[in-house]
Amino acid sequence: MESKRIAAERAVDFIKDGMIVGLGTGSTAYFAIRKIGQRVKEGLSIKAIATSKQSENLAKELGISLLPFAEIESIDITIDGADEVDAEWNLIKGGGGALLREKIVASASKQLIIIIDESKLAEQLGAFPLPVEIVPFGYEMTIKKLRKQGADPVLRTADNQTYLTDNGNYIVDCHFGKITRAEELHQALNLIPGVVDNGLFIGMATLVIVGYQDGTVKELLKM
Ligand code: A5P
Repeated sequence: MESKRIAAERAVDFIKDGMIVGLGTGSTAYFAIRKIGQRVKEGLSIKAIATSKQSENLAKELGISLLPFAEIESIDITIDGADEVDAEWNLIKGGGGALLREKIVASASKQLIIIIDESKLAEQLGAFPLPVEIVPFGYEMTIKKLRKQGADPVLRTADNQTYLTDNGNYIVDCHFGKITRAEELHQALNLIPGVVDNGLFIGMATLVIVGYQDGTVKELLKM
């Protein structure tokens, strides 16, 4: 937890007055939102867009002003976590189920700062099962098509019920083993009818900040 917090707080140093800030989702982004809330109380003037209902609620509790997409052209900086990060800063996201909103916000952002603890670093993506968001209609067929792409797909559940995203969709956690051609896989998955998006974020991160158990924080070198 401490390594997540120190990475998150380092990222918040990049936020300046007047910025529009994307708020990520998950246990690492939580620390960033808390820190942003603290800085807002100290006088920082920013507006934010959240990547999930959970982060939106937290931002409201902390007094961070939120904006609708209708009122913005772009986001200056988004700070978000990830489930796996490789040396080229490609990511797997969606462990917390928010990948679609996270990708919409990331794609509108000039800077995407990814905050992780060292356990998320991977030589090659794929040890973490890739979350794929699919619409409920015909999901059995969509899952068969995911299997044909080489996945061992598992429909996500929570409390013995099918897990529902903030968008009312399902998540299928797809075990591919090591992902060697991430870009190709990303495109192939998104071409399946019924797939809304998948948790591969290719070439989107502009900085990765890693917190280590020994209390140090480093910016990850990009290969
Ligand atoms: C949420 O859907 C995810 O993309 C999170 O960003 C990711 O799962 C990292 O979560 P933690 O910071 O909780 O590990």
